[in-house]
Amino acid sequence: MTSGRQLDRPLLFGAPATEHAHELTRAFQEQYFKTLDSRPVAPVVDRSALRALTSGGLPDDGTPLDVLYDELERTIVPNCTHTAHPRFIPYVQPSPNGLMPFADAVVATLNQNCNLWTLSPAANAIEQVLVRWFGELFGIAGAAGLLTSGGSAANFIALAAARDRTLGADARTRGLQGRNSPLTLYTSDQTHSSIAKAVAMLGLGTDSLRIVESDGACRIRLDRLESAIASDLLAGATPFCVVGNAGTVTTGAVDPIGELAALARAHGMWLHVDGAYGALTALSPRFRPLMEDLRLADSLSLDPHKFLFCSFDAGCVLVRERSDLLRSFSTNPSYLSMPSDDDFIDYANYGPQLSRSFRALKVWWSLRHFGRRAYAEVIESMADLALQMAREVERQTQLEALCPVTLNCFCFRRKDLDDAGNLRVLDELTRSGFALLGPARVHGVTGLRACFMNLRTRPSDVSQIVERIARMVV
Ligand SMILES: Cc1ncc(COP(=O)(O)O)c(C=O)c1O
Repeated sequence: MTSGRQLDRPLLFGAPATEHAHELTRAFQEQYFKTLDSRPVAPVVDRSALRALTSGGLPDDGTPLDVLYDELERTIVPNCTHTAHPRFIPYVQPSPNGLMPFADAVVATLNQNCNLWTLSPAANAIEQVLVRWFGELFGIAGAAGLLTSGGSAANFIALAAARDRTLGADARTRGLQGRNSPLTLYTSDQTHSSIAKAVAMLGLGTDSLRIVESDGACRIRLDRLESAIASDLLAGATPFCVVGNAGTVTTGAVDPIGELAALARAHGMWLHVDGAYGALTALSPRFRPLMEDLRLADSLSLDPHKFLFCSFDAGCVLVRERSDLLRSFSTNPSYLSMPSDDDFIDYANYGPQLSRSFRALKVWWSLRHFGRRAYAEVIESMADLALQMAREVERQTQLEALCPVTLNCFCFRRKDLDDAGNLRVLDELTRSGFALLGPARVHGVTGLRACFMNLRTRPSDVSQIVERIARMVV
């Protein structure tokens, strides 16, 4: 230090700059939730205010917390999209449950690194119990797995494991180099884009991903799937994986998983099920039968930051065989060598991440604090909102459904408007600040999508949204 002044660890918690953090957090949350309903769901972005806030350079000296807090209230919050607002229903994105601000604060305070068990023993035990609970919920007893940043990461890990099992012992060293027979995989035209992204990242090439047509209910067509596999075999390719959906991203459709499993088994293929959206509806008696066949999957993605209403981010992947994860992801550099222990798992060997947060705490606390029965009730109440919307849309002569309701989302359109007109309705609704819905394109037709995953949405919100859309002049 050129000045010779001792800085006295200025970043340490409890130093003058942060001593009001607790009070400010509480005040912020109280104020935010008190005013949430009256805010526009999506802001009219004040670009000049954001530019003014962000135009300076990297500061040499610190800014008092009160000033930062003032900026938060004045500029940041008014330019946020309010995802916990009762009429925020565009995507598979929940409002977080009430434990989350507390759990996230504890996680940041403990700052466990869930890469090696020695750095996070309690977190390790908790992550293991979650994987066991999820394995039991889906009837994949003894499943291995880990928490991930979300469904996209879970899908990536599962497809890496599927690819490497097919490539065999030298998967890590040779990769895809020198293969004569291209690896091909299959999924429906309703599948989430994270699958194609994973296929590209894994070096498989998206040309090898066969997109199979879905039926009127948005479920994969098995006849089309079988003929795609047959023609690839004839051409000398190696079909290695089928990706089914337990809740397609746009309409919430569930593929015929039992039939997909039988087909995959007949061809020695891996069955991955993307259950990021819908798998956790298995917590509810109403949806359990629909999810029964997930027990047949070789791997399954699920997202606690969806139907467990956990804050971002918390996903999970389950894989039937532990060795499939280790083949793809284990490493053993000298600087990470730690004693292994049969009671614990080094999660760094199960996925691409090294440093990992203590995500398990918020998921475990959510399940323990609320319990399965409360989740069943909430999940079914969300599905009831989708059914209510479908009934109300049916009563409006100028509206029509695009697809039947399976889970908790509903897609519909204005019959009197073309695709562009329906998008104008969506824009106008967003601009009004009253509600935020998403766009939906179902079998070539464009409309609107409501996905009910918001703990604050009331039946009266649904009725008001339908009325507005039906009467809107665009
Ligand atoms: C079916 C499906 N798969 C994957 C994803 C991606 O999940 P994440 O956003 O957690 O990465 C989503 C997100 O909505 C989804 O609905």
